[in-house]
Amino acid sequence: MSRPPVRFGLVGFGAWGQHHAQSIASNPDAQLAAIVAPSEASRAAAAQAHPTARVFADHRAMLAEVKLDLVDIVTPSHTHREIATDALNAGCDLLLEKPMALTIEDCRAIVRLARERGRQLAVGHELRLSSQWGEIKRRIDAGVIGEPHYVLVELARKPYRLGASGWRYDQARVGSWVLEEPIHFFDLARWYLAVAGDPMELYAYGKSRDPARPALYDNFSAMFKYANGAYAVVSQTLAAFEHHQTVKVAGRKGAIWAGWSGALDRTLEPSFFLKVFDGENLEHVAIKKPSGEVFELREEIARCVQMVRGEAAPAASGEDGLWSAGLCLVAEESIRQQRPLPVGELLKM
Ligand SMILES: NC(=O)c1ccc[n+]([C@@H]2O[C@H](COP(=O)([O-])OP(=O)(O)OC[C@H]3O[C@@H](n4cnc5c(N)ncnc54)[C@H](OP(=O)(O)O)[C@@H]3O)[C@@H](O)[C@H]2O)c1
Repeated sequence: MSRPPVRFGLVGFGAWGQHHAQSIASNPDAQLAAIVAPSEASRAAAAQAHPTARVFADHRAMLAEVKLDLVDIVTPSHTHREIATDALNAGCDLLLEKPMALTIEDCRAIVRLARERGRQLAVGHELRLSSQWGEIKRRIDAGVIGEPHYVLVELARKPYRLGASGWRYDQARVGSWVLEEPIHFFDLARWYLAVAGDPMELYAYGKSRDPARPALYDNFSAMFKYANGAYAVVSQTLAAFEHHQTVKVAGRKGAIWAGWSGALDRTLEPSFFLKVFDGENLEHVAIKKPSGEVFELREEIARCVQMVRGEAAPAASGEDGLWSAGLCLVAEESIRQQRPLPVGELLKM
């Protein structure tokens, strides 16, 4: 007997929200039941692209009028806590885009509320579902390179988009640029080094190229380390061109090198590679599915369907989202204080 589709309510129909909408609409086990966008223009675009979804100006009206299984939050980051709180209180599971929220207190409050309400909480770290970045994790966990000791995740790209009403260039609404994209790399590096336990200490540098926004860094690098001496480097420049990402992992006996390049982050025709050296042989891994955030988003929606049905855990949990946001916030503080800072308290609820 066929099961009813999982009913999604999407909040936010901007650049990334439209990709969420397409991914939900193209999944046969999901139904895009409702879309929320405050501006008339976005509501008209949502109604035209998804005529079977109900369209609302406010998430509270959607929660009051539509029966939903999961609320998918893809709004400017300063709105995440309020919308997540209302959705959890309405009894829905969540797919919450990164960063979960702009402060560690807000992230903790969301995780706590999800636990209290017994709801599932997935955080939008879709790189974990990648045919390429996910394969690196599988190779590490299979012991191919031995115990991992060093991870580098690095990105050179063109500047960020402005976002609806310029929120991405307004510190009060974006929080920081570290919370925008390096947050994914903190998550990946911590995931790859999971065997080392929790990170202990972090040191970061940042440099803006615009004196009008000195704390929104175009160039950012951080290192964080573990009790066993393993460490990770996360580095990004927004003062470059196109979109070029590299991951390198070194273990006790082998190493991994992967690269991804596209004219844009969301290109449908990227080039990418993955090389794995087990200490004796070098393998050029054939990656069967395309790699890139648009493809990974489809996998993330599919995983959320399984999550709502009780068949799978989220790819990145609320605790993972708390860690990734927390590492970004400690990095910001490390830049301000110009010294390494401990990170061990982050998960204390
Ligand atoms: N996981 C990833 O790889 C990834 C990639 C990109 C973005 N993100 C995250 O996704 C979120 C959205 O980013 P974006 O690039 O899509 O931003 P965007 O293009 O600016 O779109 C934001 C959308 O949210 C709507 N909105 C604003 N305030 C709202 C509110 N209070 N209630 C409901 N809707 C509201 C806007 O409505 P109007 O259009 O009507 O103004 C717009 O449709 C951010 O948290 C960002 O960090 C994640």
